Amino acid sequence: MTDARVAVIVVAAGSGTRLGRPEPKAFVRVGARTILEHALETVFALAEPVQVVVVAPSAQVAEATGLAKATAASAVSYVSVVAGGDTRQQSVAAGLAQLSPGVEVVLVHDAARAFTPVSQFEAVISGVRETGGGVIPGLPLADTVKQTDWTGKVESTPDRSTLAAVQTPQGFPREPLIAAYAKATEDHTDDASVFSSFGGVVTVIDGDPLAFKITTPWDLRRAEGLLAPGATGELRVGTGIDVHAFDESRPLWLGGLYWPAEAGLAGHSDGDAVCHAICDALLSAAGLGDIGTRFGTADSRFIEAHGDVFITETLELVHGAGFTVGNVVVQVVSNKPKVAPRRVELEATLSALVGAPVSVSATTTDGLGFTGRGEGVMASATALLHL
Ligand code: CTP
Ligand code: MG
Repeated sequence: MTDARVAVIVVAAGSGTRLGRPEPKAFVRVGARTILEHALETVFALAEPVQVVVVAPSAQVAEATGLAKATAASAVSYVSVVAGGDTRQQSVAAGLAQLSPGVEVVLVHDAARAFTPVSQFEAVISGVRETGGGVIPGLPLADTVKQTDWTGKVESTPDRSTLAAVQTPQGFPREPLIAAYAKATEDHTDDASVFSSFGGVVTVIDGDPLAFKITTPWDLRRAEGLLAPGATGELRVGTGIDVHAFDESRPLWLGGLYWPAEAGLAGHSDGDAVCHAICDALLSAAGLGDIGTRFGTADSRFIEAHGDVFITETLELVHGAGFTVGNVVVQVVSNKPKVAPRRVELEATLSALVGAPVSVSATTTDGLGFTGRGEGVMASATALLHL
């Protein structure tokens, strides 16, 4: 008995005939982990607690229990494993028999869709809560479809624009799903079909190509490719520091903003230490050197230039090298100006410039050093890039 109001039944009891491996499909490895573990990782990434029911081949219940418990870690009390049946429908029915009393929404998910994004689970759960009916993710068909009896003759060409290729998880309100499964006599290929054959209303929401079902050796190769370095986004981190001295005769530009009635900063450009530190962090993360070597004082384009000019030029280099910015943090070390009243505005301006979240913090140095004596501003930035 848990606090979960949602259950996810992960069906993993198939043999994987089309994959052609000796072990059942859910126990085939993609990289270091089995397909079942990859599927469970996503389920345990949900913010809301869920009851997790794994349906395994009867000969693999012990093995699946070991994998499920290890993946669940501290959430082990939310997990149970049962033996499945000869068909997917029987396996789902075995999972439904395990639901805890507090569960209101049930998701049925194919373990074979091991790389389904967590956002797809969240969208299905909120869809069921909003509609009170079944919700399934689907994608438009890329190929034209033919109706055929497979003797070679084409009977018709259904209108592709009215068709969806559906995925999992498929989500339903608990009671009508259980009732539909109890009544079903024919074999259905998905849960929505069982649900709707007894009057349930089903809505299709946008699916995701990453929720593809690992079915053939080609699909397995594709899944392996998703885990290869670079494919899932190799990460690079970089740091940058910049210092400019106060110059009372100049206007203050800091973080891409104009600060009226504040002492300005000396420099060849406008002296915006915040923007310059961000540029250095981005360039160092990408292995592209630093602001001094990239935008030297000899270049007349940068005389009096504002911070946005440097950031835009830097991003061009960073993007050109194949990186996207994950996020940037920057800290202002100075007595003046007071950053707190304009922190939100600074973050919005810099985030828009960088095209990724930029967070800003500020500190003083307790009267110590050049910043403590009020001689200038220091900014320190860290940037995260994805390859
Ligand atoms: N499944 C199940 N019980 C079955 C059959 C299928 O739990 N008797 C599960 C599979 O483990 C899989 C999902 O349903 O996660 C989708 O089925 P499919 O991709 O067809 O898997 P298999 O039936 O194992 O593969 P194949 O059809 O190639 O044998
Ligand atoms: Mg099958």
